[in-house]
Parts: sequence; C-alpha cells; structure tokens
Amino acid sequence: MKTLIAILASAIIGVIPQPVSMRITGGSCNVNTARTVFSLDEKSGIPAEGYTLEVTPDCITAAASTEAGLFYARKTLDQLRYGDRIPCVKISDYPRFAWRGFHVDPCRHFLGIDDIKKQIDILSQYKLNTFHWHLTDDQGWRIEIKKYPRLTEVGGWRTEFDGSTHGGYYTQDEIRDVVAYAAERFVTVVPEIEMPGHSLAAIRAYPWLSCTKEEISTFYTWGSPDIVLCAGNDSTYTFLEDVISEVAELFPGEYIHIGGDECQKTKWRSCPVCQARIASEGLKADDEFTAEEKLQSYAVRRMEGILAKYGKKLIGWDEILEGGLSEGATVMSWRGESGGIKAASAGHDVVMTPSKAGMYFDHFQGESKVEPVTIGNLNTLGKVYDYDPVPEELKARGKGGYVRGVQCNNWSEYMYKPWQREYMLFPRAFALAEIAWTPLERKNFDSFLRRMDEACKRLDEAGITYHIPIPEQVGGSCNSLAFTDSVEVAFTTSRPMTMVYTLDDTAPTPASDVYRNPFTISTDTWIRIAATTSYGKLGPERRIHVEKQPVEPASAPEDTWSGLRGRRTDGRFGGWDEIGEDAEWQEVQLGALADLAKLEKFDRNMPDSLQFYAAEAEGWFEVPEDDIYRFSSDCDLVWFDSFPLPLIDNDGKVKRFSHSDIELALSKGLHKIKVGFIYNVAGGWNSIRNKTDVLIRKSGDDKWKPIIIHQ
Ligand code: ACM
Ligand code: ZN
Repeated sequence: MKTLIAILASAIIGVIPQPVSMRITGGSCNVNTARTVFSLDEKSGIPAEGYTLEVTPDCITAAASTEAGLFYARKTLDQLRYGDRIPCVKISDYPRFAWRGFHVDPCRHFLGIDDIKKQIDILSQYKLNTFHWHLTDDQGWRIEIKKYPRLTEVGGWRTEFDGSTHGGYYTQDEIRDVVAYAAERFVTVVPEIEMPGHSLAAIRAYPWLSCTKEEISTFYTWGSPDIVLCAGNDSTYTFLEDVISEVAELFPGEYIHIGGDECQKTKWRSCPVCQARIASEGLKADDEFTAEEKLQSYAVRRMEGILAKYGKKLIGWDEILEGGLSEGATVMSWRGESGGIKAASAGHDVVMTPSKAGMYFDHFQGESKVEPVTIGNLNTLGKVYDYDPVPEELKARGKGGYVRGVQCNNWSEYMYKPWQREYMLFPRAFALAEIAWTPLERKNFDSFLRRMDEACKRLDEAGITYHIPIPEQVGGSCNSLAFTDSVEVAFTTSRPMTMVYTLDDTAPTPASDVYRNPFTISTDTWIRIAATTSYGKLGPERRIHVEKQPVEPASAPEDTWSGLRGRRTDGRFGGWDEIGEDAEWQEVQLGALADLAKLEKFDRNMPDSLQFYAAEAEGWFEVPEDDIYRFSSDCDLVWFDSFPLPLIDNDGKVKRFSHSDIELALSKGLHKIKVGFIYNVAGGWNSIRNKTDVLIRKSGDDKWKPIIIHQ
C-alpha cells in the first residue's frame, strides 16, 4: 500500500515539464514484465515532438509522429518511474515552443566536451532541444578553424592578471562528436561566431582584422573592448566567409548565430576604410540610426548573404535591429523584450531571452550578500517560472506566433568551475523547461516546486550541483551584527523553504530546530542557519555573529584632521600582503574615498602599458548619534578607529558584492577610517571599475549612503 501511494505521488508530482494533459487511471505497472509498444506514424496527427502515452497494469503504449516524440515519451516514463514500477496514466503531450534553448559560454571560462555532454544529457531529459554554443568572444576563440590555425593557437589562450594561462578549444572532431551526441538526444546545436564586436581573440590572432591593426597581447577581464572587426574592409568578410564555410559543414542545423551584440563603434568613426564604406554604400545617419549603426547593419546583411551561400539562416542578438534588420534574420531578444516585440511585429521570428526577466542564469538567484559572486541583478526561480515568452503586446496584435521559443543564457564570467555552472543552471533550468513546453494554463508554481524536488533528487544521484536557497536576513544580510541591549534577527529565503538553526555554535542538521519566528538576541550569539529541502538535504549554512558591543567612543577633535591623507604605490599586486615593507609610497590628493579608483584611467582594452597600483586613504567621518551602524565596501580592506585588524576584508577575493559587511556600535562624534584599495584584476573583475566609497547605514535602515569624510 505504501509503495502504491508513493507511486501515485510520483505520478502527480514527478514530471517536468508538466504534460499538456495527464490523467491518473489507477494502479501501476511493473516495467520488467509489462509489454511495451512504441509506434511511429508520421500521419498520426500528433504534433511534431509530441507523443501520447498510456500505461496500464500490463502494457506501456507510446505513439508519436516523430522520433523526437518517442524520445520524449521515454523521458516522461523515466520521470514517472519509481523503482521498477510506473503508475497507470494516460498522457497526451506536445510542446508550446519549437525552440527550447540553453546556452553555454566556454569563452570566458573554458569547459571540456565531457561537461558539455553532461549538460546536453541532463537538459534533453527535460525536453530542452536547442544548444546555443557561444564559441567565440574577446576572451577566447574555442573552435578549430583549419584555414586560420592562429585563432585557436593564439586566440584560444589568455594570460591572466596573475600570470597563469587559461584556455582551450574544441577540435573539429570533438565538435562533430558533440553534435552527434546532441542529435541522439534530439538537441540541435546552434554555433555562435561573434561579429563584429566581441572579437578580440580573433584580432589577437590576426591583427589585420581590426581597424587599427594593432597587436594585442592578451585580454583577461570582462566587458566589451572597443577594438572590433573592421566592418569596411573586404578582407574581414573574406575571413568571415572562410570561417563560416568550415562552421556550416560541422553543424547540420538550420541556424548559425552571428552575435552582433555590444559592438563598440568608436574605432569605426575614425577608420578611413569604415568611413569609405559608409560613403560608398550611402549609409547616412538619420533620426533613428547613426551612420556607424547602419554600417553594423550592412555587416550583418553581408553575413546573411554568406550564411545563405552555405544554406544557413541567420540569428543574432537584438542589436542586429539597429540600422535596420536584414530580411530573413531571426532576433534573439536579450535587452528586455522590446527587440523581440519590434522584430515579431515586423514579421521576423524571435527567440526570447530577456536578461532581467529571468532568462539570464548568470544573474543572482538569491540576495547578492549571501550568494556567490555573479555579474549582478536578481533572477529568482519564481521569476524564471513566471516568465511568459509571448508578450501581451504581441498577443494583442496577433503576432505571438513569431515567438519561436525561449532560452536561458549562461555567461560564464563568474563560473570558474563546471560545478558553478551547474549551481547557476539548476533548478532554474527546470523552470525554463516548463515555460518552454507547458501551456500557460497548466503552469502552477506550487505544483512545480513539488515536482522539482523529485528532479533535484535525481541531480543528487547524478552528482550534479544545484542551488538550494541560502537564508537571507529580512532587511539585508550581514554576518557580523552588533547590539547594545538586544536585537531582532529575522530570516527569509528566495523561495519558500524550511530553515533549521542552532544558537550554540554547532552546525545545524536537518533535525535541528525549525526556524519559525524572528530571534530576539540579547547575549553574544552565533546564529547558524540553513535551508533544508523536503527530502532532508541541507543547503549552504550561514554563520552570523551577533555581538554585544560596548559603544566605541568618538575621538577628541584635536586628534583628528580634515580631508583624506592618501598615498599610492605602484605595482601589480594580487593582494595586500604582496605590497612589501620596502614599497615606495607617494602622497596623493583625494577629494573623497571614491577617488581611490581614479588614480589611473579605466581602459576597456586593457593594454600592456596600464599602471596598476595600491592606494590608501585615511580620514575621519562624523557619526550623527549613538547607534548601531552597518558598513559595506568593495575595497580590499577597511580599518575603523583603533581596531588593529581590518573589519572589512575583501583581500584576494573578487571585489564585487562584498560579503564582509559589518555592524559597529558607535557613539556620536568623529571616527577614524582607513581604506586600502588595489587596482588589479581578480577573478576577471577589473577593480578600477569599482565605486570605492565605504557605505554606511543605520542598523534597521534600508538605504546605504557613502561615508562623508570630515572636512
Ligand atoms: C549579451 O548578453 N551581450 C547578448
Ligand atoms: Zn574599419
């Protein structure tokens, strides 16, 4: 009886994406003894990729009009299976969208074909069918092109800030192997060859591709350099055609993605060849577009012609709309939905991948103060699930049919290791699978969460990492809290979860007390708290020190000074301890802490001549009244008053979304602050882009303000 109930439960909760229709008919069947009838009939009237499935106590019957449909019937059966039994069901199923995509970026951080195959394998089980392989970018060229061996010999590798080497590439044989592996799982691989921007790896290999033809040694940070392909020179298009001729031969799918995003056009403005092309093609600026945007459009049109020669259709990021969209182009809408809406309204196919509406899985899935560093923004599981790829505006205009599908993008700037890719992908990819396949009226987040737990258990069995929410403090997380009398500490999670905790500095277990109400803390306490899944797996633990502090007295005015005392020392420092006792420091004028990152200019191209440095600033700030104050900074180190150790310490870490916020009990008056900042590149992040303020807020407030230095 117990097994039967479990089996019924598995039928109700087990399948992702939710089928179009599923009826539980009672009883179960033994997979070892049941008769299995799978039939393929092109004329069955079952939609492409769809299937019907009936499980009775002694027979499993599946039908489809395509092989893909039978494959998906098998995947549904796998998910329904509980031990050797499958509950009796009747299912009729087909996808809402033809393009159910996932994207992998091996350019920022390379991953080998075993990890690529792992992703294809798992995601195809959830009926995703399009693998967008972003094969070229500024930081690495990842596909072997026989005619241009330097693309991978030179462009496939980069020297990082710390002198280490990062890179790799796929040989054409490896690519054929991946394409075949994907095809066995009914996944089409769409290669992306970026042009005319994000092409620095190619330009490093062949400097004649750019407007200035300058030699570039390496590029090891994130962002968009303004050294791009020369769009005026015919030799650029000869190169692109040569590349496409080899790429087209490797990928049998209908599309090649040509990028087109974030192309900085500064060099085109001063390039005589680009300007000559603008003149000869009559590309005049108008109210809508600059001449250079029209040059980009010209370049994309030429790419469309090249692709057509090799029997391929063009898809590109929504910037390909700027300057006018080429005739047969499909648009991948990433900067919101407006590009997709514009293209679909004009009768172009679109794939929706809006970054901030949930489809960028490189964004945070919980609060930035507790989650591992990402590129920014917040795309929770709930937000992903809520996304509908067909905007109301297109529905109202009857143009919804131009939305071919939806895709998640997984840019890998901050995904240093394969497990981090998995952490960002799951379980959000399950939500994507459901919005890509299931009709809107069948979506239900509560039901999804229950079914998702079953899917996560299978990830555990397969050794795949996934996100479990990390407890977040209501009003903002901080691991170092202060109070003088008592303090209330409340927790929440990025989706509904049970949390367990201890207050005696022992590690919480699934059997620990369940968090139900905010804590009122009046003695020095370590709160240790973690979310736990319905199947008893603990997520990452938070360990928070709630410290009873004496109020730190202010300094006597005669001991203070006005303004900042600043100094810098030049060098390529990975961390503060690399500065050395004998470093030569020079005094610098700093109007505010924010000036710490302004001692050299930001150069998006990272030339060799950059002067890296470390700088310090020391001064005083006014505390308006006795209270508890919270501080935050993305600088390397921050010291307060006469505390000997830095209380904020980001030294050696990726200096974004600092996890080292602290609270201090301070009395009214002037308090000392000393800030250490290193201009370097850690984890690919160029720290000269940082705001180097120290932020302050009264405990309980939700608005941060930069500290004002006493003048
Ligand atoms: C993109 O995220 N730059 C397409
Ligand atoms: Zn040019």
